[in-house]
Amino acid sequence: MKRRFIIANWKSNKTRKEVIDWVELVGKNLHNDASREIIICPSTIHLQCLKEEAVRKNIPIRIGAQDVSEFPEGTHTGEINGKQVKELADYVIIGHSERRKMGEDSNTINHKTEEALRYGITPIICVSEIEQIGDYPFRIESSKILIAYEPLFAIGSGNPDTPENANRVVQLIKKEAGDVSVLYGGSVTSINVRSFTSQEHIDGVLVGGASLDAKQFLLLIKNA
Ligand code: PGA
Repeated sequence: MKRRFIIANWKSNKTRKEVIDWVELVGKNLHNDASREIIICPSTIHLQCLKEEAVRKNIPIRIGAQDVSEFPEGTHTGEINGKQVKELADYVIIGHSERRKMGEDSNTINHKTEEALRYGITPIICVSEIEQIGDYPFRIESSKILIAYEPLFAIGSGNPDTPENANRVVQLIKKEAGDVSVLYGGSVTSINVRSFTSQEHIDGVLVGGASLDAKQFLLLIKNA
């Protein structure tokens, strides 16, 4: 059976108290299951809290950051570098379209990917179209990265891609990028999740809005 990734991208949401409450509820209801990997990506400011809570309550989740600096440690005010991220997280989202909109280009994304890989963090690289794959030399590291296909129209819109088309694009990405796990993201909910995870080529889902509410997210995991 293939291992599925279920990744929660909390974006710029949740206070510390809300993180603790979410973990409390999810922790009580989540059981170990080797067939899936659940990765939670909070704001950087909550990485430590989430990690401590998960360890303390023995909750089977992994931790991901939402970004990493393109620079190594040093004189870069406000940046959080790969070495620092690695202390708290094993994954990092890179090149999300919401960051590309703010000016992040493929050059920056490549530098960030290099920094993540240097410290043994698994990059979750987001692409909104197949053409973006060609920009990245990281393809040669395909066994050490995850790719998320997230079409722009589907993100936060309540209008997901069709599972068949997502499966087709994911297959094309794998053809381009080699032996890599590829996820689908964009308006995934507890109701439609299975239609994506049951596709032949899709290795999991990247979930934004539907990961914020603990009960909804538990249901999504159950249905995946
Ligand atoms: P959404 O976000 O699930 O709210 O559409 C997905 C994402 O942006 O990663």
